[in-house]
Amino acid sequence: MIQVFVLQLEETQYSFEFQDTLLQYLPEAGKLRVKDRLNNSSKLQTVAGELLARYSVGQYLGKPDQEINLEFGEKGKPHIGNLENTHFNISHSGHYVVCAVAHAEIGIDVERIRKVNLRIAERFFSPSEIDDLMACDEETRMQYFITLWTIKESYLKAIGRGLTQHLNSFTIVRNNGSYLLTGNEEAEGYGIETLRLNHEYLMAVCAPLPHSPFAIRHVTLIDIIKTLPKYT
Ligand SMILES: CC(C)(COP(=O)(O)OP(=O)(O)OC[C@H]1O[C@@H](n2cnc3c(N)ncnc32)[C@H](O)[C@@H]1OP(=O)(O)O)[C@@H](O)C(=O)NCCC(=O)NCCS
Repeated sequence: MIQVFVLQLEETQYSFEFQDTLLQYLPEAGKLRVKDRLNNSSKLQTVAGELLARYSVGQYLGKPDQEINLEFGEKGKPHIGNLENTHFNISHSGHYVVCAVAHAEIGIDVERIRKVNLRIAERFFSPSEIDDLMACDEETRMQYFITLWTIKESYLKAIGRGLTQHLNSFTIVRNNGSYLLTGNEEAEGYGIETLRLNHEYLMAVCAPLPHSPFAIRHVTLIDIIKTLPKYT
């Protein structure tokens, strides 16, 4: 089963006081990682991402935090150091932080639907994706752009290569309301699920085929810290 945990950050949680509280639940390596983040908002996303990941993996496996060794390196995909058959991935955008957990490689991406310069499509999308995008009416074009983008990111994050593999090296094809990855053998081995979180945010999850549908659970930061140990 693929389990997706969705956390919505609240305005009051951006305060320095609340962030100091949250930092107590991160080990030393996590505290150092957060220090480097540029602004208050990305600091909170990173702390919340790591806490959500620890909570999600613990809930998924029914194990206490002390038995799970999440490793967040400077570069590359975070992973579980002491468990080979469980995988997770996190994504954040605006007020949303999401984490997917599975017994197979997994990638997740959440993005806010916003106005984007369509020139980006020429750089990152394949010719048939650009045709599909241009066939959309103006109202739905940005939403479709973000749909394609989240699908691509979720795939690249599933295989763990981030943007080092060029985004137009595979093509997304619409298929009766769902999406297929085509154009290269590796991509064809992966499936995609997309979900609209609300009118503003879209999420895509990518996992090797065949995969089960995903289950979604909404959680709050307060639920999360109630279950995690303090490190101070
Ligand atoms: C790092 C990258 C994997 C994802 O970046 P992103 O979409 O900006 O950010 P997301 O919120 O979806 O994901 C970030 C998380 O992915 C994880 N991650 C980092 N490297 C990863 C990798 N190689 N594979 C999978 N996951 C990775 C980390 O947990 C990271 O969060 P953290 O640093 O707070 O711990 C990479 O694809 C990237 O650089 N993307 C740039 C995206 C871009 O240019 N977007 C423009 C939109 S128009």
